[in-house]
Amino acid sequence: MKHLKARLQQRLEKREQAQWMRTVRKAQSPMGREIHIENQQFLNFSSNDYLGFANHPQIRQATIDAIAQYGVGGGASHIICGHSEPHHHLERKIAELLDRDDALLFSTGFMANLAVMTSLLERKDAVFQDRWNHASLIDGGLAQPGSFVRFKHNDMTDLQAKLESTPARHRIICADSVFSMDGDICDTQGLVSQAQAYDALLYLDDAHGIGVLGDSGLGIIDHAKLSQEELPLIVLTLGKALGCAGALVVGEKTLIETIRQYGRSYIYTTASPPAIAAGVSKALDLLAESPGTRQHLSALIHYFIDKATACGLPLMPSPTPIQPLLLGSEEAALSCQTFLERKGILATAIRPPTVPVGSCRVRLTLTASHTFADIDYLLASVSQWLEANE
Ligand SMILES: Cc1ncc(COP(=O)(O)O)c(C=O)c1O
Repeated sequence: MKHLKARLQQRLEKREQAQWMRTVRKAQSPMGREIHIENQQFLNFSSNDYLGFANHPQIRQATIDAIAQYGVGGGASHIICGHSEPHHHLERKIAELLDRDDALLFSTGFMANLAVMTSLLERKDAVFQDRWNHASLIDGGLAQPGSFVRFKHNDMTDLQAKLESTPARHRIICADSVFSMDGDICDTQGLVSQAQAYDALLYLDDAHGIGVLGDSGLGIIDHAKLSQEELPLIVLTLGKALGCAGALVVGEKTLIETIRQYGRSYIYTTASPPAIAAGVSKALDLLAESPGTRQHLSALIHYFIDKATACGLPLMPSPTPIQPLLLGSEEAALSCQTFLERKGILATAIRPPTVPVGSCRVRLTLTASHTFADIDYLLASVSQWLEANE
């Protein structure tokens, strides 16, 4: 242990020197437009609570009501006796909404991606992943028994070359629908075409698409009008726009049943609290009932992009609520974060290894709880930092 501790200490020091150290800070308020962290109030541009659902009174009430009926804990895994009526209801509801055969509820998106990757593939198979995919997909890809191939970001020519040159019995192609640190949307038509051409299963991670993309807010399926044949499997996380926790893997019935039977992170874990499933069901109702919320978010995104472009801010090509400012170095990103904090704005510096070296950024996220005046204040503050650091 003494030697291990010394090695770990060294690693931590290296991380500190590179300015890559992460910190965990304590919030003393619910998630929302404003957040109270360690005795300071911030205007919050850091959450994934895109619709302001994390503390929505109706979702809170649905959760409280379900606690009154079902208690707090899941109490057992789904396959033993932890699968309750609210879990079942939610799985059926999402399958119907997305016009898919079946769905499976997980406690987290990370566990869902791990289960999908490891239960569907065998040796001699291969998974092809966009280089900028979320860590949970990458880790799932590394944990599965087949080949793991990464293609250049959103580059269908590179994907095709890799599909062509990699011998595999069965293939999965897998990408984030909205890239979490960049905000851009995957090339859905390109991915569908490649999957069809190489008889591959297309799997998209709609963590940042559900609730945001599409005419009805139902995510990438709604946005790109993808049938189950074109997109047989998808994961939606429930802790972002839907304001709750967990994830749903939704799709074709043989795939879902295989994940139910073989997904170790589905089988060997306690079911999430039934009340969370009840909260998600309510969030889906609200999504259908409140198009105005999504319209407001969309108007804020357009307003932000237009004004930020006019101010010369270093935007990335993102049409979504994720609007990173590409600043380059660790020093620049951390300096911008600190400056904004002094102005009462919470906006997080994202550094390697989350993003490639030299592409540090401040990741701004817009939510339906923000106002146009909030955006004005944010833009004025960022502009001040840029002027002082030119
Ligand atoms: C694209 C993407 N996939 C999966 C996850 C993991 O989901 P969860 O937070 O539910 O574990 C996240 C973020 O958390 C994500 O951004």
